[in-house]
Amino acid sequence: MSEVLPLTRTCPFAPPAEHLRLQETEPVARVTLPTGEQVWALSRIDDVRTMLTDPRFSADRTHPGFPHLDPGRRAMAGALKGMMVSMDPPEHGVARGAVMGEFTARKMAALRPQIQQIVDECLDTLLAGPQPADLVRALSLPVPSLVICRLLGVPYADHEFFQRSTEALLLRSTPPQQRQTALGGLYTYLQELIARKATEPGDDLLSRQLGEAAEPQDVVSLAMLLLIAGHETTANMISLGVMMLLEHPDQLAVIREDPTKTPLAVEELLRYFTIGEFSLSRVAVGDVELGGKHIRAGEGVVVLSNAANRDPAAFTDGDRFDVERGARHHIAFGFGAHQCLGQNLARLELQIVLDTLVRRIPGLRLAVPVDDLPFKDDANIYGLYELPVTWTAP
Ligand code: HEM
Repeated sequence: MSEVLPLTRTCPFAPPAEHLRLQETEPVARVTLPTGEQVWALSRIDDVRTMLTDPRFSADRTHPGFPHLDPGRRAMAGALKGMMVSMDPPEHGVARGAVMGEFTARKMAALRPQIQQIVDECLDTLLAGPQPADLVRALSLPVPSLVICRLLGVPYADHEFFQRSTEALLLRSTPPQQRQTALGGLYTYLQELIARKATEPGDDLLSRQLGEAAEPQDVVSLAMLLLIAGHETTANMISLGVMMLLEHPDQLAVIREDPTKTPLAVEELLRYFTIGEFSLSRVAVGDVELGGKHIRAGEGVVVLSNAANRDPAAFTDGDRFDVERGARHHIAFGFGAHQCLGQNLARLELQIVLDTLVRRIPGLRLAVPVDDLPFKDDANIYGLYELPVTWTAP
C-alpha cells in the first residue's frame, strides 16, 4: 500500500511538502487517504483541467468510488445528492441553468452599493468598539453572511445557528453523529423557511425559484448549498487576505497606491491560499489515460489544488506572494462545468472589503504574531478561527 497522503496544512504559507514532492516526481500518483481508501492524486494544473472537463469523471458523491476525506463525509453524501455540486450532465446543467441568471456579473455589480453599506456598517461598529478586536467576528463572517442572507431571503437574525452548523459540517474532526445533527438541523430550518416563502413570497432568490415552479425540496437543496458555500468560504478568504496583506506591507502598498490593482490582489490571494483544497474530487466512470497512468472506472481522484496553484508550468516562482502577477488562471474556484457559481460575488466582496479597510483604517495591524494565530488546519475549507487586530485611530 502507498504511504498515507497528508491532508493537514502544517504551514499556512505552503502546501504540504509531500504534495509538492508528488508534483515534481509523480504528478498522477496512486495514494492512500487517511480513511485507508486508495485513490489517484493530481497535482499539475494541466492534468487537473483535463480531468475536470472530461465527462468520464463524475461528481456524484454517492458513487461508492467517490473519494471522501473522512468517514463522516461519506455518511453525509446522500444529503448532497440533490445539490448541483454532486450532479452530472444532464441533471447538472438543468439545476445550474435554473439559478445561473441570479449570479451574472451584471447582477453582482448591482449589489455593490448594498455590499459597500454592509462593510461600512461593520467597520463603524468595529471602530466604535474596544481594541484589540477579532476581525473574524467583526467583519469576515458578518459581511458574506449578511450578503447571502439578503440574496436568499434568509433572516440574518439566525446567523449564529447557520454559521455554527456550517462550521461543524466543514471541520474534519466533527464526529459523524454531530455532523448529521448539524445537517439535519439546517435542512429542517430551510424546509420551514421555504414553506413560509411558498405562501408569502419575498423579493429574494429562493422565492423566485419557487415562483419558477421548482419543486420545494429542490429549492431546499439549493438553499443549503448556497448558504453553506456562500459565507464560510468568503469569510475565510477575507481573514487570510487581510492577515497576508498586513504581513506584507510592500504588497499592501500596491493596492493602497492604486486601488485599480485590488482585483489583481484578490486573484493572487485566492491562488496563494486555495482554501477549498480538496473540493475538486471526482470518480472515474470510464477508463481514462491521464499523465501516462491508467485510471479505471470506479477509481477515485483527488486534486492537490494548493500544489497545482503553484505549478511552475503556470506560475513562475509560485511560492512568492506577488499581488501584481496576474493569477486569474488559478483553480481556486475549480474548473469546468462545476466552476464556482458564486465566484463573481466572492470577488466583489473581497475587493470591497480590502479597498474599504485600506481607505478607512490605514493604521490596522495584527494584535498577535502570525505564529500565534489559530489557523483551521483541520477544516475542509482553510482559514482562521480568529484574527485579533488593533489600529491607530483613523
Ligand atoms: C463550487 C470555491 C464562494 C457557490 C465551488 C467549487 C470551488 C469553490 C472550488 C468547485 C467544486 C467542484 O468542482 O466540485 C469557492 C471559494 C469561494 C467560493 C474559494 C470564496 C472565496 C462561493 C459563494 C457562493 C458559492 C460566495 C454562493 C453565493 C458555489 C456553488 C458551487 C460552487 C453553488 C457549485 C457549482 C456547481 O456544482 O455547478 N466553489 N467558492 N461559492 N460554489 Fe463556490
